[in-house]
Amino acid sequence: METALHFGQTLVFEADPAIAGLSAVRHDTHGALLVEDGHIAAVGPAETLLSAHPDTPRVNHGARLILPGFVDTHAHAAQTAIIASWAARLRDWLETHTFPEETRFGDPVYAAEIAERYLDLCLSFGTTTAASYCTAHPASVDALMTAAEARGLRWIAGRVMMDRNAPDALCRAAEAQYDLCAPLIDRWQGRARLGCAITPRFAPTCSAPLLEVAGALARAHPDALIQTHLSEQPEEIAWVAELFPEARDYLDVYDRAGLLGPRTVLGHAIHLTDREWHGIAETGARIAHCPTSNTFLGSGLFDLARAQAAGIATGLATDVGGGSSFSMLRTMAAAFEIAQLRGHRPHPAELLWLATGGGAQVLGLGDKIGRLAPGFEADFVVLDLASTPAIATRSARAEDIWDAIFPTIMMGDDRAVAAVYAAGRRV
Ligand code: GUN
Ligand code: ZN
Repeated sequence: METALHFGQTLVFEADPAIAGLSAVRHDTHGALLVEDGHIAAVGPAETLLSAHPDTPRVNHGARLILPGFVDTHAHAAQTAIIASWAARLRDWLETHTFPEETRFGDPVYAAEIAERYLDLCLSFGTTTAASYCTAHPASVDALMTAAEARGLRWIAGRVMMDRNAPDALCRAAEAQYDLCAPLIDRWQGRARLGCAITPRFAPTCSAPLLEVAGALARAHPDALIQTHLSEQPEEIAWVAELFPEARDYLDVYDRAGLLGPRTVLGHAIHLTDREWHGIAETGARIAHCPTSNTFLGSGLFDLARAQAAGIATGLATDVGGGSSFSMLRTMAAAFEIAQLRGHRPHPAELLWLATGGGAQVLGLGDKIGRLAPGFEADFVVLDLASTPAIATRSARAEDIWDAIFPTIMMGDDRAVAAVYAAGRRV
């Protein structure tokens, strides 16, 4: 049903609560969302919308909470089948599990099978948009975009560019890469609800000439997102310093290739120098904070408070399969725990913003998704705030909506996701 009045509790974010405070968020215990033609037409108290639209079909979600669909700002669709693989640290994990698995995507049938499985999993956890890395194989991007289009999703996918320090089956000569990526961008960028991201994997697997090619693609395709990894582990940073002795630091490797700007999404960004923090803020680049990945791979504790204070657009990301969960609830919990270890306590409202409107801004989609506001696309989730006995016991004590949702943030999983809608349609 694409035109309907949805009733339930609603949380409406006007702005980032870390900046604007809690007054930027309105809670209605008896709220409603009017969906027309795949978009949100109105949101407000149930009584008001009911009297204004008495003849619209109704969907009653009871005491469940209606929120924008979750936005995962950095994930590897191609790592779906190797999530939670035991390894030491990043390089060991990449070589032992990741590169062999990505090599399998040379088979388009396998790529199509994993694309469907990946989207099933994302939706089951309430994620309605992600920026997903595919593999070096163009068919891996076609498979994910085809599957996302068939489901009516807003999704971003990128072909991973590498030309060294990875198996030959995943490397392509720098000179060949422009023509491997450009047709994909031409085919998918802006088609239906899809976007195609320029995706040089990270400095260690990209030569300077390959990063130049990525920069040329970025100049030729000013609407396409640019995504890569930055400063995830200290050993990686030392490796980058050896590989790029001419660069001032890790960030500068990307800067020299013209890859930094407001459409750049940098995964991790944990071990930054002051100069790099300033460089990210000055260029307007964004950060995808990947907390379950950072603990799983032992990478370090991201400084969320500093990113917020510096005005850097920041979102949350699962980083599947370096990350250990498809769930953005689990990801919010991990972000909270990492912040705690740094002496900072993001409010539940801040965590929810990072997983919705904040993530949408990071992906350049802040005017389309991530908020329950008129004109926005009707991608939303319906959360059961008492989805397990433990959560129900705790939320029964809740004194306000934040106290009611925090146990679901900390302990919830796919059982909390009662329904998911994309462009107004249940998926
Ligand atoms: N750095 C380069 N590639 C990857 C990847 O696939 N996962 C993570 N976590 N870090 C990376
Ligand atoms: Zn990653």
